[in-house]
Amino acid sequence: MRQIHIREVGPRDGLQNAHQRMPTATKKAWISAIAEAGVAEIEVGSFVPPKLIPAMADTAEIVSFSLKIKNLQVVALAPNLKGFERALAAGAHKVTFPVSASRKHSESNVRMTPEQMVEEVRKCAAHPHPGVIVEGAVSTAFGCTMQGAVPEDDVVRIAAALAEFCDYVSLADTVGYANPAQIRRVFALVRREIGDKLRTAHLHNTRGLGLANALAAHEEGVRHFDSSMGGLGGCPFAPGASGNVITEDLVFMFESMGLSTGVDMAKLLEARKLMVAALPEEPVYGHMALAGLPKGFRAAA
Ligand code: COA
Ligand code: ZN
Repeated sequence: MRQIHIREVGPRDGLQNAHQRMPTATKKAWISAIAEAGVAEIEVGSFVPPKLIPAMADTAEIVSFSLKIKNLQVVALAPNLKGFERALAAGAHKVTFPVSASRKHSESNVRMTPEQMVEEVRKCAAHPHPGVIVEGAVSTAFGCTMQGAVPEDDVVRIAAALAEFCDYVSLADTVGYANPAQIRRVFALVRREIGDKLRTAHLHNTRGLGLANALAAHEEGVRHFDSSMGGLGGCPFAPGASGNVITEDLVFMFESMGLSTGVDMAKLLEARKLMVAALPEEPVYGHMALAGLPKGFRAAA
């Protein structure tokens, strides 16, 4: 039984910010390898205008391929109703919407204020979507490179608004500003407001606190984590954003604590090799992959 649920976001958060393009066939092989390692949920791409992010132009094909992988929850990001309709047409199981708590980031990222974006997600949630899960992701929830501090009240207000019509809400540290005390405080505040609708921690490792923040979120009751293989990632519309918390290291941390992620480390490292070979110019990170597993390491039962 999985005690920790890891969603790999490399194919979306990672590739949207990579300098190099990953060919469609390689994306498929990479996603297959990640799923083969036991990751049960993958954010495989986004339905944004291809002109804006060319690396996501093949998302419909990637979604329809991923649907054939057994027991995989296939997630796509959408920024508006048009993207949601494309995601539904492609058959995504879950659609996640980025709703920035920072007005500046929201305007840069989706050309809407946070309030307008909440209304856009409300419109999507009201659109028929049988069986499809709608997730509201509160981005820049712990600070913003453009705006600076993001008031916690704004985060709580947006999360509460989204919880009215979303199945789940996640909190994202888009630019890697969070610290563990802040993670605990903000997750607790939001949980008090929306209860179990608060689900996932989406953390970036920009200032090296990714794992510390993940552990803090875990202590606050969070069991769902986004992460990206090799620590790829970052928002092209948030200056200074860099990679997500590293999947390999996150799996190692939880497994060595005796908390099962359902992920097989050896197979995860095979998937990593495939990604590294496909993006030879991309900086990739990961302590576990460099150092190897400790002698006598045992994965959680
Ligand atoms: N998918 C494909 N095409 C889309 C689209 C979508 N989701 N949304 C809009 N378009 C098209 C429109 O049809 C229009 O096409 P046209 O020029 O041929 O008529 C064009 O894009 C502009 O549409 P508009 O509604 O004016 O969008 P915009 O230019 O104001 O951009 C967003 C708004 C939300 C579409 C854009 O800012 C966006 O995609 N942001 C997300 C960026 C992102 O992925 N960030 C990282 C993840 S958090
Ligand atoms: Zn992110």
